Amino acid sequence: MTKQAIEQDPVHVGDLPGKHIVLGLSGGIACYKAAELCRALIKQGATVQVVMTEAAEQFITAVTLQALSGRPVYTSQWDSREANNMAHINLSREADAILIAPCSADFMAKLLHGRADDLLSLMCLARPIATVPLLIAPAMNREMWAHPATQRNMAQLSADGATILGVGSGFQACGETGDGRMLEPPELLEDIVAFFTPKVLAGQQVLVTAGPTYEAMDPVRGITNLSSGKMGFAVARAAREAGAEVTLVAGPVSLGTPRGVKRIDVKSAQNMLEAVMQQAQAATVFIATAAVADWRPASSAERKIKKDGSGQAPQLAFTENPDILATVAQSPRGVSGALFCVGFAAESHDLEDNAQAKRLRKGVPLLVGNIGPATFGRDDNALLLVDAQGSRELARASKLSLARQLVAEIASRIKQAR
Ligand code: CTP
Repeated sequence: MTKQAIEQDPVHVGDLPGKHIVLGLSGGIACYKAAELCRALIKQGATVQVVMTEAAEQFITAVTLQALSGRPVYTSQWDSREANNMAHINLSREADAILIAPCSADFMAKLLHGRADDLLSLMCLARPIATVPLLIAPAMNREMWAHPATQRNMAQLSADGATILGVGSGFQACGETGDGRMLEPPELLEDIVAFFTPKVLAGQQVLVTAGPTYEAMDPVRGITNLSSGKMGFAVARAAREAGAEVTLVAGPVSLGTPRGVKRIDVKSAQNMLEAVMQQAQAATVFIATAAVADWRPASSAERKIKKDGSGQAPQLAFTENPDILATVAQSPRGVSGALFCVGFAAESHDLEDNAQAKRLRKGVPLLVGNIGPATFGRDDNALLLVDAQGSRELARASKLSLARQLVAEIASRIKQAR
């Protein structure tokens, strides 16, 4: 299948369709993670050409990576399989990006100086610098990582146009604990997908609420709802992919934070309102996906409410929670449009009418309607975008795909409005 055909094929799913990645491995124990990364890239529709240094071959075999990538691995600049015997030129010319994972401290130093004494460094130096980006996933011991030489090399490589994907922190193969581990394959994948995403929200500060809220009755009980937070987390991820700086205010959910997103955990609607009001000062876009509890117990008992033996249930009184979205949308920045506000509406019936009425009540330019029982906890959804002009459907798809479509929609509306 040609690259163009793959990109146009509707059944070909994945976040990297048609991308050709040259995956370079330098020597380090993190080479074992490169096997999983290779698989993950392919699962997302990319083709992967592996190039290994001699040191990398000490940690993992070319056989493993050939089997996973479905292509012979290159390890030498003297590879006679290439008709012109110029593997470094041929491999770098066909790449959409070169990703060095793991990138050892030594290999970083080599790249920095433009050394070219093995195939991988030679290929990096020979790559067309304007069209073939170089991404680096460092992996090393914490002392090596913290060393001024490494930090200096990293800063210079960034200045030379390379993208450094950062490192993880934690237990290291040497037995020490600290910064310098290679990021995990799913984290690298998220960063690579973000790297290729057009930056339609560059310069925007996006604030997102997500998940349910929890309203305490006493120290061990409370009321909440079935929201999983998946849509809000997907929106935060999509906004970051699109180049925004993203703050995610999350109710109690058990989801990992999307890469590059600042997360603030809250419990109750009142906590959420406080966090949002603080962050809203700097935000330019507010997307309220949280399923905020409409009511909270009028008072929360300090001690657990016990049965009194009468067989009567306790009488609970409720107070209405503040409407976070309406408060923000009707603040001076919301009204002036300096803060573009987007609401969600979870309905059970008459979606369009209810969503349109809710949009006007809250005072937001764009409201995203969905059927509550058909979305809570699921990985997919269908949305209805409602604005002053009418409505438009976003067909059933994964929440991440819908979040990306929504982000594109918001970006084009901001562009028109500002
Ligand atoms: N919302 C909010 N604060 C609240 C209630 C809702 O910020 N106290 C936001 C939600 O995050 C969502 C939008 O308002 O973006 C609509 O939420 P929804 O629960 O559908 O509507 P409600 O205002 O609660 O109205 P109703 O329950 O009557 O449908």
